[in-house]
Parts: sequence; C-alpha cells; structure tokens
Amino acid sequence: MRNRLAAGTSIAILFAALAVSAAGITALDRVPPKARLRPNPLEGNPAAVAAGAKLFEQHCAVCHAPGAKNRLRGPALDSIQVRDAPPGALFWVITNGVVRRGMPPWSKLPEPQRWQIVTFLTGGEMPPPAPRPAP
Ligand code: HEC
Repeated sequence: MRNRLAAGTSIAILFAALAVSAAGITALDRVPPKARLRPNPLEGNPAAVAAGAKLFEQHCAVCHAPGAKNRLRGPALDSIQVRDAPPGALFWVITNGVVRRGMPPWSKLPEPQRWQIVTFLTGGEMPPPAPRPAP
C-alpha cells in the first residue's frame, strides 16, 4: 500500500513536471529568486551595450545567431521574454548555463563581461530617436 502511494505520488510529480514544460517555462523562469533580484551594475551604460554586443558575437552567436536574432543550436534571444527578463536572471543563466540542454556555463568569463552581455541583451537605455527634420 505504501509503495503504491509512493508510485502514485511520483507519477503525479512527473505529470506536473510535464505540464510545466508544456506551458513554455524556460531556463529564465527557473532562476533562484535571490539571483533574480541581483541588479545589473552596468544598467543603461551605452559602452557596456557595445562591449556586450561584441562579446556576444565572439562567444554566443554560434548558437544564438549574430545579434541574437535566430534559433541555431539555441533559441533566438531578441525576444520580449529576454528583453524584459530580470537582469539577474539572465546573468544567472549565462553563468550557470543549462548544461543538460546544451547551453554551456560562462562562469569563466569575467563577471563584468557577463554583465556587459546582459546589458546588450536587455538593450540598455536606448537613446530617444532623433527628431525628424522638418519637411
Ligand atoms: C553550444 C551552444 C550555445 C552557446 C555557445 C551559447 N548558448 Fe545560450 N543556449 C543554448 C541552448 C541550447 C539554450 C536553451 C536551453 C534550454 O532549452 O533551456 C540556451 C539558452 C540560453 C538562454 C535562456 C533563454 C530562455 O529563453 O530561457 C540565454 C539567456 C542564453 N542562452 C544566453 C547565452 C549567452 C549570453 C551566450 C554566450 C555567452 C550563450 N547563450 C552561448 C545554447 C548555447
């Protein structure tokens, strides 16, 4: 009886896990709450956006495409979900990777460089568009 109950429980857990993955929960949703709250020290820094773009092409574009714009071995990252993700969550995923699913960890990349990539992916503070010249 006990074993049956245990088996029933693990099947329930399995179904719950399947339901979660079917709902499109991504690596970013699984970041521990504390890591999620970490602020980006380079938030809105235009030099960091540029440096992050360069690092992205060097290290990440093989799987996420140049400019993060396409799915290659990993998903495109120029999405609302990524742009609006808490910077701390992006930093955590970049640092730890999603090893089982083919996203390598980047803990060897110095922290400031990881934050530069986060700043690039979240777009930094974009400057307002230039005023149109009068016709
Ligand atoms: C070897 C291929 C590979 C490389 C190189 C790689 N990634 Fe990934 N990345 C993946 C895969 C595969 C996933 C999807 C993991 C999953 O299914 O949860 C992913 C997921 C992610 C996610 C989470 C997206 C989401 O919606 O949950 C982020 C953010 C990310 N990568 C950023 C980067 C950054 C930044 C770099 C460079 C420093 C990088 N990746 C390098 C393969 C790669």
